[in-house]
Amino acid sequence: METENFKVNKIIQGDCLKILSGLPNEIIDLVITDPPFNVMNKEDLKFTHRTDIIQGVEFDQFSSYEDYLRFTERWVKIIVEKMKHNSSMYVFFAVQYITDLMNICLNHGLKYKGILIWHKTNPAPKIRKSGYVSSTESILFMVKGKPTFNFLGQNKMHNLIETPICMGNERLKDMIKKTKNGKNATLHPTQKPLELYKHLISVSSNEIDLVCDPFVGTGTANVACRLLNRFCIGIELNDNYVQHAIKRLKRTKLKTQKTGIKGWSQNSSI
Ligand SMILES: C[S@@+](CC[C@H](N)C(=O)[O-])C[C@H]1O[C@@H](n2cnc3c(N)ncnc32)[C@H](O)[C@@H]1O
Repeated sequence: METENFKVNKIIQGDCLKILSGLPNEIIDLVITDPPFNVMNKEDLKFTHRTDIIQGVEFDQFSSYEDYLRFTERWVKIIVEKMKHNSSMYVFFAVQYITDLMNICLNHGLKYKGILIWHKTNPAPKIRKSGYVSSTESILFMVKGKPTFNFLGQNKMHNLIETPICMGNERLKDMIKKTKNGKNATLHPTQKPLELYKHLISVSSNEIDLVCDPFVGTGTANVACRLLNRFCIGIELNDNYVQHAIKRLKRTKLKTQKTGIKGWSQNSSI
């Protein structure tokens, strides 16, 4: 595959396993990603009255947990080859599976740096009042070598991050699908808050670094990178999400991206 086809500020439609294998090795400074979780249950899918909540997750279906682990192992192996010697990786992952992900990453040569907990301050209510409300997600932090780590101040560096789930104008809407009360449904069931991505990217990369999100969904990583003056390769399988993500990226105010240091400009390829 021709590597010069990779636009460093673009969202690429396709299977990340195939797309990533065409990238040169050791070029990525930071991976931030939110892969399918293999956790969606029928209760989640019944939500139609709160448009900020999950409404059907076809990408989260695996035939078995073993199948899910095989998929996880495949993308981790490829992405580690593409990471620079000094680089970092954040992966949103279901808390019940996080040690499996950690072991896969360790087997492929990454070092464990910690687990962050994202506390959603407005989680989906529990319909059947038979258990705790699921209001947290875990984020595994792994590194290679001695990567960038911009300590932002004691109060900003807690490993518990509290924000609402993505909502309001930030949440992309599906212009065709409607909820029961006639409003536009949310486009993507798991769009992440932009501020959360901006925070992690600010800590673990510098301006004009290359960031990659192989499961970019609505393009949150690309948008955060554009605002923070980083380059980003976002990959997404679903063409509808890709089209919306491209429009979202175009609406995002461009910061002047510096050129020259790595020979890249706004429209550069690698
Ligand atoms: C949890 S969502 C990511 C949401 C994203 N963080 C956001 O803010 O919009 C995972 C995404 O991975 C995509 N996906 C699943 N398998 C994929 C694959 N093999 N290659 C690329 N994308 C894939 C799904 O379509 C889904 O949009």
